[in-house]
Amino acid sequence: MCGIVACCGSDNIPQLLLNGLAHLEYRGYDSAGIAVIDNEEGRLRVVKRLRQSDRGMIDLLREAAAAEGIDEAISARAGIGHTRWATHGAPSVANAHPHLDCEGRIAVVHNGIIENHARLKAELVEEGHCFKSQTDTEVVIHLLEKYYDQADGDLVESVRRTVAQLSGSFALAILHLGHPDTIVVTRNDSPLVLGSYEYGSIAASDTPAIIGYTRDVSYLGNRDLAVLHGDGQIECYDPAGELYVPNIYHIEWDIEEAEKGGYPDFMLKEIFEQPQVVQNTLAGRFDAQAQRLQFDELPLSPADIAAIERVYIVACGTSYHAGLIAKNMIENAARLPVEVQVASEFRYHNPIINGNTLVIAITQSGETADTLEAVRMARQTGAHVIAVTNVVGSRITAEAQTSLFVKANIEIAVAATKSFLAQLVLLSLLALYLAQELGLLTKRKISKYYNEMCQLPAQIESLLAEESVSAVKAAAEACVHAHTALFIGRGVGASTCYEGALKLKEISYLHAEALSAGEIKHGTIALIDPDQGTPVVAVALQSATYDKMLANIQEVKARGARVIALATEGDEQITELVDHVVWLPPVREIISPITASVVLQLFARHIAVCLGRDVDQPRNLAKSVTVE
Ligand code: M6R
Repeated sequence: MCGIVACCGSDNIPQLLLNGLAHLEYRGYDSAGIAVIDNEEGRLRVVKRLRQSDRGMIDLLREAAAAEGIDEAISARAGIGHTRWATHGAPSVANAHPHLDCEGRIAVVHNGIIENHARLKAELVEEGHCFKSQTDTEVVIHLLEKYYDQADGDLVESVRRTVAQLSGSFALAILHLGHPDTIVVTRNDSPLVLGSYEYGSIAASDTPAIIGYTRDVSYLGNRDLAVLHGDGQIECYDPAGELYVPNIYHIEWDIEEAEKGGYPDFMLKEIFEQPQVVQNTLAGRFDAQAQRLQFDELPLSPADIAAIERVYIVACGTSYHAGLIAKNMIENAARLPVEVQVASEFRYHNPIINGNTLVIAITQSGETADTLEAVRMARQTGAHVIAVTNVVGSRITAEAQTSLFVKANIEIAVAATKSFLAQLVLLSLLALYLAQELGLLTKRKISKYYNEMCQLPAQIESLLAEESVSAVKAAAEACVHAHTALFIGRGVGASTCYEGALKLKEISYLHAEALSAGEIKHGTIALIDPDQGTPVVAVALQSATYDKMLANIQEVKARGARVIALATEGDEQITELVDHVVWLPPVREIISPITASVVLQLFARHIAVCLGRDVDQPRNLAKSVTVE
């Protein structure tokens, strides 16, 4: 999705903007641009470029800016930058941000979608404004231009009047020639983070862009507005225009985490961070003395938990798959009925929900529009609504009653890996916690389960060791030229497969389909082509349904499939039946998705690498999907 950086102060403004945009590249984009106020020439200077497949976008923009003298030599104290992911209007230089008003006095960058742009544009055209792009964003500039004149040059007031006209989602950063030491930012349902540092103040749509300058940050509420000054002062106003002092949050991770650190891509780095992430997510959740799990931030009394009649999990993509796995965990441990819904459908299917329903919204980014809408709807019904997210200060944390944070730290690769594993760990603990509070598990059992989970970091380490990774690579290389790949499993194994197939699709662009192994003979088995040796990835770990899984493997094998099995160490039976085996350490079935997913991530990544794909920024995808 789009990215914003804005700063003012005595620093090298073009460099700061370009460095910030480079840290937002991971979000996915098709064009980029910056605008600064050239104080010497008394005009706005803008440079924009379209992404080219063979060049690093920000390097291209840096060269173009330098060629036009927009570099450290320029006398500028304020600037804004943007990476665009096209929604309204094709990727083109004309549609790239920043956009300027008719007179070239105002520059704006925008993330989100202005839903009423068509009506506003018609009115503004009628009033004589000249539009130069097909974007929804451009109405913002012309509104600002109009209100700035009406408000006698009061920039803040003109932004206020403009925002009052807008419906939809937006994060905006605004630069005005008449205010060379100021930037105004505002937002609605689109993230924005702000901070002061030694040489001024800075804002961005995502923390990596500013983490190199400050780790003490604030977040604006919906329709709040902030004025950034070159001396580092930031004034924040609520929608009623009241000045307020924002909370400051200290970011725990540092800039190194937003860099590859010797790995060829972020995805591999993030896969290898998983032992630590799992450990971090487990930490502090178990009181060894009392032998109890603790979720002190949950707003649920024992009576509330006892009264829960039903659990809904809402999420999208990989987070939805975490929800499918969590369903098994919660139903098994806490004996509560769980329904898992993709967030984009939840609002429209008239869910059976009341004050005794627990709604769990899972979202890595905390900014997914579909999930936010589902949460808003659930809150209106009086249900208990909790969020599971990775991002402190994200929108969901303001919308849900409470947020449970997974400890994955910043995730840069578009394909979710470590955040998914952290979600699984947190949701397993939550399932056990609910069981504990419902009196379904003894202290001894809770302690035993927790201790088993504490073995997971070492078990994941073993899967990341050379021998295991080589086995995954060998299996992956045999599948590189396939037309389609099938993933089969049973119970939690089937849910694990959904995520394995999604990972493969999104980064390799191979078609993949996951299904319950028992279902394959009811239709999908027709896809197995003996001439192609269609790959079938079978999650066949020791479990209650292991024998049935072996039968399903034989069915596909008999039709010419190439079978890659994920099997439990010591399983001699399976080697006879399949083409490739990747061994996994023995773990309790219910938490086996945590280890099995690591193998499936490596499998997908290796195929994508063999096919020469851009693993971190797959085509058509964005890291956080802030539009419905
Ligand atoms: O930030 P969220 O967890 O809400 O994101 C949901 C999906 O957009 C996300 O999981 C997506 O499917 C990723 N590309 C998965 O790798």
